[in-house]
Amino acid sequence: MRKILVTGATGQIGSELTMALRERYGNDNVIAAGHKRKPSKKLLNSGPFRVIDCTDMTTIEKVVREFKVDTIYHLAAILSAVAESKPQLAWNVNINGLYNALEVAREYGCVVFVPSSIGVFGPNTLKNNTPQDTIQRPNTMYGITKVTGELLCDYYYEKFGVDTRGVRYPGIISYETLPGGGTTDYAVEIFYEAIKYRRYICYLRADTYLDMMYMPDAIKAAIDIMEVDSNRLIHRNAFNVTAMSFSPKDIANEIKKYIPDFVIDYNVDPTRQAIADSWPNKMDDSAAREEWGWKPRYDLAAMTKDMLEKLSEKLKVRI
Ligand code: SER
Repeated sequence: MRKILVTGATGQIGSELTMALRERYGNDNVIAAGHKRKPSKKLLNSGPFRVIDCTDMTTIEKVVREFKVDTIYHLAAILSAVAESKPQLAWNVNINGLYNALEVAREYGCVVFVPSSIGVFGPNTLKNNTPQDTIQRPNTMYGITKVTGELLCDYYYEKFGVDTRGVRYPGIISYETLPGGGTTDYAVEIFYEAIKYRRYICYLRADTYLDMMYMPDAIKAAIDIMEVDSNRLIHRNAFNVTAMSFSPKDIANEIKKYIPDFVIDYNVDPTRQAIADSWPNKMDDSAAREEWGWKPRYDLAAMTKDMLEKLSEKLKVRI
């Protein structure tokens, strides 16, 4: 049985991935670690929780030794919009934090999952059907840290034999924990505002296409890639994965099918718009499909239906 450490367990993906891993591998075998955000009761009551500051290697090492961890899901990271306003912090957390996790993994023989992102692509990358292997010249600090992370993971595998694996996540949509300062956050906020106020003011232009994924698929990707036989992986660390590609106008139209009086307005934030404009419209994820059987379950219609159901229940608002 695996002993798993999840850093960033209080974040958008971490909070749900930890619970899914606990269900699969046993509560006591999955150690949740957070830093600044307060852990939910659910996270605290269902298994071990520790505070880890990933920029301080000793705090990671201590937990890995205490629990004899053999698998690390290293999710602690700063998202794209925050990274643009605090580039030094983003470098420190996303690069030094990852370096520390990899060093501990090397020393203690852990397998490591590291999420990369659509942010690794830049303005001169092909925007439609963005290939798995292509130009990666991002012009954001977030993208720079994520490309460096991909290279670092490759290096630790080639040089030290650390079994590193990862995917390039698109925007993730979920109803449990809010994302913290990404460019794709609008696709989550829109549901909260639609249910509560029937109106949403979007910070991206109506025609901005981006790859997206519903949380159950994001979790499935993280578990599946870690369970596949290592020999099947050619790309290992940075698989393009996507489930749908839509624009703010598309998702608003989908929501209107359930909330006919919903209105979307636009007040474009130049920083986030520039980030979004530098990212792909739609990635080609055939390498992930071929090498480890990636297949998402939710498209825009299925995701919207489920999000509205679950979120209206959570917010106790009938739609
Ligand atoms: N969701 C992320 C962000 O917007 C992309 O990886 O920063």
